[in-house]
Amino acid sequence: MSHTDQIAKPIMAAKARALKGTVRVPGDKSISHRALIMGALAVGETSISGLLEGDDVLRTAKCMSALGARVERKENVKNKSTWHVWGRGVGGLTEPEDVLDMGNSGTGARLIAGLVSAYPFLSVMTGDASLRRRPMDRIIKPLSQTGATFHSRAGGKLPMAISGTSILMPLTYDSPVASAQVKSAVLLAGLHAPGRTTVTEPAASRDHTERMFAHFGVQVEAGPVKLGSTTYQASIIGQPELSGRPIIVPGDPSSAAFPVVAALLIEGSEVIIENVGLNPLRTGLFDTLREMGASIETINMRIEAGEPVADLKVKKSSLKGVRVPAERAPSMIDEYPILAVAASCAEGETRMEGLSELRVKESDRLSAMVNGLVACGVDAIAEGDTMIVRGKGKPPKGHAKIAVNLDHRIAMSFLVLGQVSDRPIEIDDAAAIATSFPDFIELMGTMGATLTIPNRPA
Ligand code: S3P
Repeated sequence: MSHTDQIAKPIMAAKARALKGTVRVPGDKSISHRALIMGALAVGETSISGLLEGDDVLRTAKCMSALGARVERKENVKNKSTWHVWGRGVGGLTEPEDVLDMGNSGTGARLIAGLVSAYPFLSVMTGDASLRRRPMDRIIKPLSQTGATFHSRAGGKLPMAISGTSILMPLTYDSPVASAQVKSAVLLAGLHAPGRTTVTEPAASRDHTERMFAHFGVQVEAGPVKLGSTTYQASIIGQPELSGRPIIVPGDPSSAAFPVVAALLIEGSEVIIENVGLNPLRTGLFDTLREMGASIETINMRIEAGEPVADLKVKKSSLKGVRVPAERAPSMIDEYPILAVAASCAEGETRMEGLSELRVKESDRLSAMVNGLVACGVDAIAEGDTMIVRGKGKPPKGHAKIAVNLDHRIAMSFLVLGQVSDRPIEIDDAAAIATSFPDFIELMGTMGATLTIPNRPA
């Protein structure tokens, strides 16, 4: 059963005492999807530790089984698990017997659409109400040029049917949008094509696919270029023979963002968040918060499975408003909701520019944040693709009920704001949080937060 089929689960956040303690956030969602997919394309065993066991990633695991890989979860000591994938080799996947239901996951849908477009069989893909509203034309357009055929609902929406091709053409694709999902869909198809597949982007999006390919021994060239409006290029040589290998998934910086901002805002807080992935294409939020005056110390920096990882020591800080330039958006695209929460408690104006992509996430996050913050008594507006939040250097009133519209990051952002606002904030449904951060409520509780089921009159 998907989280969307369940009865709504309202949660209320009330003013918290100082947050304290040392915690770990779950594994990186982007890397987890890619680890399972690459495991399915490698011959032999890929063992994955730290995999995010959130709904989005579990659906990708299920898809890899449906496409012929063997996927097993093994419970270890202390409730920790490792995942094991025995793959079929590049070109070795088999036709799924049933519809691939990607739930809430745009990453799963787009990456796996790229993957199956390289196979001469039929795949049918759907998702929950949020995913069925999101644009797939951004991947249908390039992938159709490889020889695959797509039949989607009007406007490139799911459900869609994909008939792959046995004579796949390698592509050179100039993506008009800085999107790791688009880039990865094309590269995953290109992994099956003879010769070189190249994707360029107007700005570098997260490079986990390129790093994971390199970890498996694929020939990858990726990095900055200057070609007109293009600033980044990734290029791979297709049809490699891959063999399974171990992968360690670091903690997700996009999940760490919530306890980080909570600790910055709640009086007397001091926490350590261990094992956070700090890929430089993901750290825009931490850079921005530091510019706002945040005390976030990086300790114990190390490299694990090709990705930089460290612990973060965070202390309550007084924040001031800043301008966040559009160029920074790809490195913090999922973090604007929680940044807007931080901005609502900061002194002065925070201006976040170049946010058109926020409108096509799990919900229209630009509208969701502005409307939700205004309901909490914050001075917030959207001007085109800019979000402006004017804080008063203290928490807002709160006292609002927020509809989260199947969006996990909107849900967690308002649960953080409710921990500092004068009066509690309630969200209508916490179920979506399970897509990326299944133990969010428990983890915040261990640090001292008060997240409870609201009392209802009998
Ligand atoms: C992701 C890429 C991002 C991000 C999403 C995860 C990925 O989307 O919003 O949560 O794993 O590739 P775009 O890069 O497509 O904007």
